[in-house]
Amino acid sequence: MRRFLITGGSGLVGGHVAQKAVRIGEVFATMHAHSFEMDDVQTLCMDLSNPDQIREQIRTLRPDAILHTAAWTDVDACESDPNLTDRINRQASVIIAEEAACLNCRFLALSSDMVFDGRKGRYKETDVANPPNVYGHSKLNAEHDIRVVCPRAIIVRLALVYGNPITGGRTFSQAIEEKLRKGESVILFEDQYRTPILVQNTADLLLELIQSDFTGLLHLGGPDRVNRMEFGRVLARAKGLPEDKLIPTSMSMLDLKVRRPLDASMDVSKARHILKTPLISIHEGIKSI
Ligand SMILES: NC(=O)c1ccc[n+]([C@@H]2O[C@H](COP(=O)([O-])OP(=O)(O)OC[C@H]3O[C@@H](n4cnc5c(N)ncnc54)[C@H](OP(=O)(O)O)[C@@H]3O)[C@@H](O)[C@H]2O)c1
Repeated sequence: MRRFLITGGSGLVGGHVAQKAVRIGEVFATMHAHSFEMDDVQTLCMDLSNPDQIREQIRTLRPDAILHTAAWTDVDACESDPNLTDRINRQASVIIAEEAACLNCRFLALSSDMVFDGRKGRYKETDVANPPNVYGHSKLNAEHDIRVVCPRAIIVRLALVYGNPITGGRTFSQAIEEKLRKGESVILFEDQYRTPILVQNTADLLLELIQSDFTGLLHLGGPDRVNRMEFGRVLARAKGLPEDKLIPTSMSMLDLKVRRPLDASMDVSKARHILKTPLISIHEGIKSI
């Protein structure tokens, strides 16, 4: 049986990956501030700011595959502490990648569509990245350094993820639905474009990738390029919730503390070409939540 180590099991993506991975192997998943339990998953505490602990845990477990989903994902908090962001998102990723290379095990690390400044949109893997904020810089620097220490790594730039968490994390789709159910208004950007991907679809795609012989960089997102308002409308219609509570606004009009890309949509044709798992549309994905 193959042994999988999933960092960030207590998070949104890692939780879903862990739940699906039990069908194909022995699963170990890490947590940090939030503990969780899951059938057939062995949990362990891993602190990404502790290099010795990371190395010791990986050397003890000797996994066949590592899916590194753990990261400091609070974009606003990252902006106020660039050193800690670098430590958690880049340095820890490099240590895990080094260990994966020593063990000669499959290694997949998650990056983000936020490595792009959002001026162009429909970004391909060959487009030049230019992060707009500290979080994006930490992800792009991690990509670069991972490639140096682990040339056979799979680096996935993930789009905005929606759906419901099973262990932790919070998604924007959940927040929209909760507010509409309470009869509250939801303010949504009409000028921020992304290619949202359902969390379960993400987990299936990542597990297919780690079991394939693919190496290198891949953009992973859904097939639809939408703004937040369009996403909100699809969600409201699918769930029979009031569309008139969705209030459009413009991100470019706001004086945001942390810069975010206006159009971080990604071209996912490479993922479509190499993966058998279909990329689920937002209409289909929202219905399944
Ligand atoms: N969600 C998205 O829309 C999205 C979009 C693009 C890229 N990504 C990337 O996809 C990956 C997964 O994202 P996600 O949404 O699943 O994130 P998430 O829900 O915020 O989960 C983050 C995970 O990282 C762990 N973690 C955070 N700080 C840690 C530390 N210092 N030491 C050890 N573990 C730590 C958390 O553990 P505790 O909670 O137990 O502390 C949690 O398990 C990340 O690399 C993220 O950058 C996500």
